[in-house]
Amino acid sequence: MSGLKRRDFLRKATVTGLGLPLLSLFRPVVARSRGRFQPDHPVVISSGNGEQAVKKAMELLQGGSDPLDAVIAGVNLVEDDPNDITVGYGGIPNEEGVVQLDASVMHGPTHNAGAVAALENIRNPSKVARLVMERTDHVLLVGEGALKFAKAHGFREENLLTERARKIWLYWKETLNDRDDWLPPPPKEIEGDVRRLVETHGTIHCCAMDSRGDLAGVTTTSGLFFKIPGRVGDSPIIGAGLYVDNAVGAAGSTGRGEANLKNLSSFMVVEYMRRGLSPTEACLEVCKRIAEHTKLPRLLDESGRPRFNVKFYAINKKGEFGAGAIYQEGHFWVYDRQGPRKLPIPGLYKRRMHRK
Ligand code: GLY
Repeated sequence: MSGLKRRDFLRKATVTGLGLPLLSLFRPVVARSRGRFQPDHPVVISSGNGEQAVKKAMELLQGGSDPLDAVIAGVNLVEDDPNDITVGYGGIPNEEGVVQLDASVMHGPTHNAGAVAALENIRNPSKVARLVMERTDHVLLVGEGALKFAKAHGFREENLLTERARKIWLYWKETLNDRDDWLPPPPKEIEGDVRRLVETHGTIHCCAMDSRGDLAGVTTTSGLFFKIPGRVGDSPIIGAGLYVDNAVGAAGSTGRGEANLKNLSSFMVVEYMRRGLSPTEACLEVCKRIAEHTKLPRLLDESGRPRFNVKFYAINKKGEFGAGAIYQEGHFWVYDRQGPRKLPIPGLYKRRMHRK
């Protein structure tokens, strides 16, 4: 492993609460074939909201599907789900109450990619991203151009703002400040989860390796809650929110997109795997890099740590998988020969003092 001392990394990992027993959780069963390791079973991983996605993707992989078909079909279930307010239909809107979606796809065997950003009125941006990859000579279409492209391919426009998402947005707008003319809502109109959800952001990432060892990934999101119209996060940017190198591995991210845009983080996870780090080690090493690069005082807490969280998910060419976050929070989903299961995400730090 050039440039990075594995022993040092593991010593630091143990100090931060990430012991060797946790790392060894993510070693899969692999078969030796003609002198090199090859997966003997497909592997799918996804973010904490990816239970349906990994199950659907595995069903398709077991039937012989291409890994990109499998992961897109998996995340489509979450894009269609109005109860997931961070992705697709039912996603939290921008500051004007308009849902704008970002997504990217990347296919390992062809090293091809497609993406859309700030796409309105189409619930499955990952399907449109795939068409950008397959039916244009481009990688990224945005805004009105992306919508026209989707309509040209027969996508139906619809209002993606559900009543639940509208109420969360309205609560945010009415409580934003006390110097405008919007008055706070009467307490009885604040439904149980509205106040809590105002401070959250999410996304779904899903990547897979089929039993031939081919990789693919997808990341799709409604982006930062109440964002400035036109804001684009990391999810549709190849290398930031998603990256696949069929010779090395696949990685993707959820969390504060701006940190990944400034560090090209998913690309970096794959590059660390190329240098010999396990998927978990690679994810945590990138978290460390983001923490080191976070210098703006408004983004730091009293102890000099980031005020935000970013999470990574990765699979390497051996079919090993892992995840890592700046702060140890939440879970991710994996489905391999041992079946579907939810595992804790190791963190560079145990807990954060602030949310953003
Ligand atoms: N990671 C999703 C976003 O920041 O938009």
